[in-house]
Amino acid sequence: MRDLGLVASSCGGLDSRFTAELARPAATRGWRLAVTLTPVAHRWLEATGGLTELAATTDLPVRAVSRLPGEPRPHPDPSVFLFAPASANSLAKLALGIADNQALTLLGDVLGAPGITIVVAYQIQDTRVHHPAWQRHLDTLKSAGVRLHRLDPRRPWSEVLDLLPGA
Ligand SMILES: Cc1cc2nc3c(=O)[nH]c(=O)nc-3n(C[C@H](O)[C@H](O)[C@H](O)COP(=O)(O)O)c2cc1C
Repeated sequence: MRDLGLVASSCGGLDSRFTAELARPAATRGWRLAVTLTPVAHRWLEATGGLTELAATTDLPVRAVSRLPGEPRPHPDPSVFLFAPASANSLAKLALGIADNQALTLLGDVLGAPGITIVVAYQIQDTRVHHPAWQRHLDTLKSAGVRLHRLDPRRPWSEVLDLLPGA
């Protein structure tokens, strides 16, 4: 069983689709999930009661906050990461190297490192592509070897699992 670092941010559909279309199917495919949520994504799933069914997809704790100094690291170190859904906000911060939450700290620490695979599946408003920095963020991530995919809200999110190695 291979470890998958599964990271999610607060995009529309998170509460209804993340566990059903990403976490559970990934676990069914044999991935052991190390799930990390942005604080906003965690708040959303907490509000809808979705954390329990998400937690049931893995034997590892679902993370959203950083550990205290001296506390043990709750997750292993996967070599494969799926950041989905990735918001415009979190994608931009990742490209800029901002690590102001646990999800971005995790991804920022491994971005571009040898032997690491990162798939980023982002969901954005159509207008976002006109933001002057947007294409630069995509180019930055691409140049670091990130596999980028734009989620189509009409398609099942589980399609992105095919982008992971060994699929
Ligand atoms: C109902 C709702 C749906 C949203 N959907 C998206 C989305 O699909 N993509 C996106 O980039 N931002 C979306 N947002 C905005 C993000 O949640 C917001 O920018 C947030 O600050 C992102 O934080 P995070 O990246 O740390 O999770 C949505 C907000 C709300 C309230």
